[in-house]
Amino acid sequence: MKTHIEAGSEAHKTLFCQQFMDTHLDYDPDTLPWPELAEKDLARLRSVPFWQEVYHTERRAGAIVAAFTPQVADPVVHAAMALQGFEEHRHAELIRVMIERYGIDATAQPLEKLPDDLETAFIDFGFGECLDSFLGFGAFKSARQSEFLPESLFGIFDKLMFEETRHIVFFINYMAWREKRRGLGRVRRAVKSLRFYGRAGNRLKGMVKRGQDANDGKDFAVTEASVFLQGFSFRRFVEDCYRENARRMSAFDPGLMQPRLLPAIAGLALRGMRAWDAARPWRRAKPAAS
Ligand SMILES: [Fe+2]
Ligand SMILES: [Fe+2]
Repeated sequence: MKTHIEAGSEAHKTLFCQQFMDTHLDYDPDTLPWPELAEKDLARLRSVPFWQEVYHTERRAGAIVAAFTPQVADPVVHAAMALQGFEEHRHAELIRVMIERYGIDATAQPLEKLPDDLETAFIDFGFGECLDSFLGFGAFKSARQSEFLPESLFGIFDKLMFEETRHIVFFINYMAWREKRRGLGRVRRAVKSLRFYGRAGNRLKGMVKRGQDANDGKDFAVTEASVFLQGFSFRRFVEDCYRENARRMSAFDPGLMQPRLLPAIAGLALRGMRAWDAARPWRRAKPAAS
């Protein structure tokens, strides 16, 4: 049963930090059950055009969280934030182990200098994670369903997805706690979220563009990706994101806040698309009758 906990209260802070600590997974990327891959699967894994970007993003994530953590004065939030920094660093390690083990063409690039305002950098990063994870939920589901790679590899990636889900739940609760303590009400919090999501969207566009440029000439879409792009529909993708988000979020304490904005937009878009489809026979019939 959902217990009402006031956002920004001590009870709220204890709940979201404790949940985060309690659900931490203990593993070492080196000793995960990495499978031996057949040539066909190796070729597929190597053909994925975004490993370089993923590796860089995880290394940068670790750097941002680690740099911001010392500025968090509250000891309970500080401990949880430090754990997130550890997990982001471990994500980068997991990707590095995979790159080396399977001979993927990606290397560590120099990290950009972090901005002076580390808190804004952390908030930008947090909203970026919310957006990436929401879209990632759908992409992960369709890649897994199409058996693009062996299930044993998806089992490993699923750990990473679970941790990213924990991170965004932690972030959303941290933001509500932080803003409430600064006296920001729900409306101003929502406006601020929209603004940061806009910035995250722009960064994602830049990332896709960089991925396309880096992949120039490799023609991923026509070859390997055709396996899971076959029968791709935008509506199906939005549905997968929406459902997977709900499924993954259902694992968390109902007393915690969860990302609401993107699921709400996706839900609205889906209702619109369904209404459009439902009206289709009527729209077709009308010109014929005139
Ligand atoms: Fe990560
Ligand atoms: Fe993360």
